[in-house]
Amino acid sequence: MDKFLIQGGTQLRGKVRISGAKNAALPLLAATILAETPITITNVPNLKDVNTLVELIAGLGVTICYENGHLVKADTSTLDNQFAPYELVKTMRASILVLGPLLARYGTARVSLPGGCAIGSRPVDQHLKALEALGATIEVENGYVNAQVDGRLKGGEVIFDMVTVGGTENILMAAVLADGVTTIRNAAKEPEITDLAQMLVKMGAKIEGIDTDTLIVTGVDHLNGCEHAVVADRIETGSYLAAAAITGGCVKTTHTDPKLLEAVLEKFEEMGAEVTRGDDWIELDMQGKRPKAVSFRTLPHPEFPTDMQAQVMAVNTIAQGFATVSETIFENRFMHVPELSRMGANIQVEGNDAVVTGVDKLSAAPVMATDLRASFSLVLAALAAEGETLVDRIYHIDRGYEKIEEKLQGLGAQIKRVSE
Ligand code: UD1
Repeated sequence: MDKFLIQGGTQLRGKVRISGAKNAALPLLAATILAETPITITNVPNLKDVNTLVELIAGLGVTICYENGHLVKADTSTLDNQFAPYELVKTMRASILVLGPLLARYGTARVSLPGGCAIGSRPVDQHLKALEALGATIEVENGYVNAQVDGRLKGGEVIFDMVTVGGTENILMAAVLADGVTTIRNAAKEPEITDLAQMLVKMGAKIEGIDTDTLIVTGVDHLNGCEHAVVADRIETGSYLAAAAITGGCVKTTHTDPKLLEAVLEKFEEMGAEVTRGDDWIELDMQGKRPKAVSFRTLPHPEFPTDMQAQVMAVNTIAQGFATVSETIFENRFMHVPELSRMGANIQVEGNDAVVTGVDKLSAAPVMATDLRASFSLVLAALAAEGETLVDRIYHIDRGYEKIEEKLQGLGAQIKRVSE
């Protein structure tokens, strides 16, 4: 199993090119199922999760190729089944995103139920309820979702009980080929949903209210292929800016967009960092200073994203003062806390709140990555710590951060991958 060996204490400096967003690439790939003619997606990040979904779509019979790790071409004319097996779905929850498109285009789908995961139980009840509101018959049997519809789905009213990113994406991809008008209320507004909606519009879909919490979709008879570039990864962007903040350095992220993560940038400014925004770049200069601790609460976009919680908490561990971090999206997303504590962090957890009191120095220790974003928080702590930290189970990081050690080395970090 691969591990990272990180020697802390270097201020990170330089430029880093941000990849396309994993969380946008996955729904865009699922949406290729809707296209009757070939479709091309560019700026696709070269990641394990993307490979998993490409494999799943290939298993449906789609002719799909993933060239140079950054370009996907798909042709659905060869699709010959609507089955997503447990073996693939269990490795990545976002596989459930093929349910809406398969049902909308082919009237049938058999997709394994994803299990829970480390950060919470993560049910898909909202996805299923929404598809039923469009006329689907759904049975859950032997761990599989069997969905059917006679003829086409019918437009209807969908009101989500909570803001769900995957649920909004699944129902949006179903509604674009339904008969009539669908109104999706309490829709998620994450930039990855906007990216999906924009690609669907290029394919011929009719969607109003993009970027708002009410999406109005008028179904069309068919959708065509198009060419679309994946939006920049706002979480990768914020993660590298956090690396500058925790090491007192200066990092410029390029090929990104400051509008995607304003709530996070404001927190970095509150820490005392100088944040400069360009059209497609962001620079964070900590000017060698110790950051000030910042309190925040995770909430749906445009508020502070749960996917940046662990990384900004890591910066708080060495900050001046104390701060409260509240996690409101997932019930079990503080698994990085015991690992950070092993490095000397002072964090008290009570329910969904964590009080972080900054310490002068973290010290190296062997630590274990527990989930994707938590893993980056351990890398951040290691970059700031005294001594050499071994981060185990980094397969979590490889699911979502493209070329992480190369990018960090480019900023001066002393990090190497060791295989055992
Ligand atoms: C997506 C992101 C993930 C991010 C999360 C929240 C992808 C591939 N993943 O995950 O990185 O952390 O959004 O921004 O884009 N819920 C239900 N029932 C449902 C659906 C959701 O109870 O049917 C709950 C979840 O358990 C969770 C909350 O709603 O507590 C939000 O989940 P959701 O927005 O659906 O997250 P994902 O789409 O799985």
